[in-house]
Amino acid sequence: MFQGTERQALQLSLFEQQPISKSKIVNVASVRQLSPFRYPGGKTWLVPIVREWLQQRDKKPAELVEVFAGGGIIGLTAAQERLADHVTMIELDPDVASVWLTILSGDAEWLAEKILGFELTVLNAHEAIEKPFSDTKERAFQTILRNRICHGGILAHGSGFLKHGENGKGIASRWYPETLAKRIRYIMTFRDRITFIEGDGLCHLRNVAKIPDVAFFIDPPYTAPGKRAGKRLYNFFEINHEELFDIVSTLNGDFMMTYDDAGSVREMAEARGFFVSHVLMKGTHHNKMFELLVTPCEHIL
Ligand SMILES: C[S@@+](CC[C@H](N)C(=O)[O-])C[C@H]1O[C@@H](n2cnc3c(N)ncnc32)[C@H](O)[C@@H]1O
Repeated sequence: MFQGTERQALQLSLFEQQPISKSKIVNVASVRQLSPFRYPGGKTWLVPIVREWLQQRDKKPAELVEVFAGGGIIGLTAAQERLADHVTMIELDPDVASVWLTILSGDAEWLAEKILGFELTVLNAHEAIEKPFSDTKERAFQTILRNRICHGGILAHGSGFLKHGENGKGIASRWYPETLAKRIRYIMTFRDRITFIEGDGLCHLRNVAKIPDVAFFIDPPYTAPGKRAGKRLYNFFEINHEELFDIVSTLNGDFMMTYDDAGSVREMAEARGFFVSHVLMKGTHHNKMFELLVTPCEHIL
């Protein structure tokens, strides 16, 4: 899974655990993309670390809960690779939720066909997106279309269509109908291992806090103070992080939280005795991203 220097970096972090650990390096190229979304803040690049986290346990968790699902890559991967017996994904945004509700229901094939049959032009896209939807599956189609043709996949109000995109292909540059239909159809093959809940992740966490043998992947909307100021990536971007940390400290099960690297996050984690580690991601274009992982104290990554 990890090679060369990546393996060494991971091993270093395995054996040199400290309150703020050595950096781990993740290479995104090794990850299979299962989600139909291109999601801002998506955690595809974190898949190798989550896989390692779930596989190193003595016993596979009965349940993996992905609390702020978004594009859902962690939940999808865990279900597809059977890293947990069952996966529950939770998302508050009704547009994003409509996609998961549709793909995990009997309407997945409808959505795949709708995508394949859509002729993408700027005019058609405006018409399709502005048309009032009459049911969940139509909302799902509109959401996927917007996600694929808007800047950075941003679904928040006010996000605009891609103008130039890749190779000057404009709105078509991220619209791959065959790939999207294939992904949707592939998810259909293991959807019986996934439950989706449209709702508030914090409420759900409170409800399941005491259930044993559940692992939690928690990737809340968060922007480090001063970074990307004023830029909204999500329609639902405000949560009470102190409250989230308080709930997490009551969980019986194992957890992994991910955050932008910020002093305030380290403080919230350390105040509750959690373990904080630092991950470095190298993307396919050699871009680098840092992220904090917060896990229970006793957890060895
Ligand atoms: C950082 S993104 C998650 C990205 C995801 N891990 C992925 O790989 O695509 C945070 C998500 O939390 C959702 N969200 C915001 N508040 C929420 C809440 N109270 N309960 C559940 N989801 C929420 C946002 O709509 C957004 O999709």
